[in-house]
Amino acid sequence: MKKKIAVLTGAGISAESGIRTFRDAGGLWEEHDIMEVASPSGWQNNPELVLEFYNRRRRQVLKATPNAGHKALVALEEVYDVTIITQNVDSLHEKAGSTKVLHLHGELLKVRSVANPELIYPWEKDLSMGDCAEDGAQLRPHIVWFGESVPMIDKAIPYFAEADIVLVIGTSMQVYPAAGLIRYTLPYAPIFYIDPHPNISHELALRPALRTIRSKASKGVPEVVKQLMKDGGDS
Ligand code: APR
Repeated sequence: MKKKIAVLTGAGISAESGIRTFRDAGGLWEEHDIMEVASPSGWQNNPELVLEFYNRRRRQVLKATPNAGHKALVALEEVYDVTIITQNVDSLHEKAGSTKVLHLHGELLKVRSVANPELIYPWEKDLSMGDCAEDGAQLRPHIVWFGESVPMIDKAIPYFAEADIVLVIGTSMQVYPAAGLIRYTLPYAPIFYIDPHPNISHELALRPALRTIRSKASKGVPEVVKQLMKDGGDS
């Protein structure tokens, strides 16, 4: 049987594809007030501003292409049973060819009815006030905003609990519940954290098998993948 790898990715893996991160210098949250553009109250107060924020980001994501970090994770599937749990709302893992991708914070290329979260549609153009779902309700970005629950977290937990190996790539590990997924991993499962500026939180520091690779994703991920492929994926 193939060994299982759970991969937690964040904005850093898409940085070299031209998609801005959130908390680095020059990150999105330096320029925008989170509560204005990414919260239920922001949507209530000024939905046009929220739509414009996500329209710009959607246009950018449509133009972006996967980098060597995304691609290396696809190669890993030849040898391991790989599941990617991403905080990213872009679709670069899928574009690269990864087959098992779970989006914790939603997807930019989808929209949903404000009245019924089950009515979700693929969407590649700009979204405007007046664009409605089949129930007649306004469509909103299919994004988890600050203050909203993260329904996919329950699906993500078993992948970390059962993983033989964990990769954490390009995330500041500051946003919960995503950052808390590490708590569910087996105590001695190796954790590779690839990030030029890793944030070794208290819970990561306690892990006996933490290996920190201080590199950009395009260099660090292929290196780690090469090593893992050499080690072999059968248990
Ligand atoms: N390769 C790898 N990592 C990188 C690179 C790169 N080329 N460039 C930057 N990074 C790292 C930074 O060092 C940082 O640790 O990416 C991380 C980006 O952190 P954040 O901007 O906080 O992004 P993320 O952790 O994904 O944020 C989590 O916060 O606002 C929300 O919903 C949004 O999903 C997002 C969540």
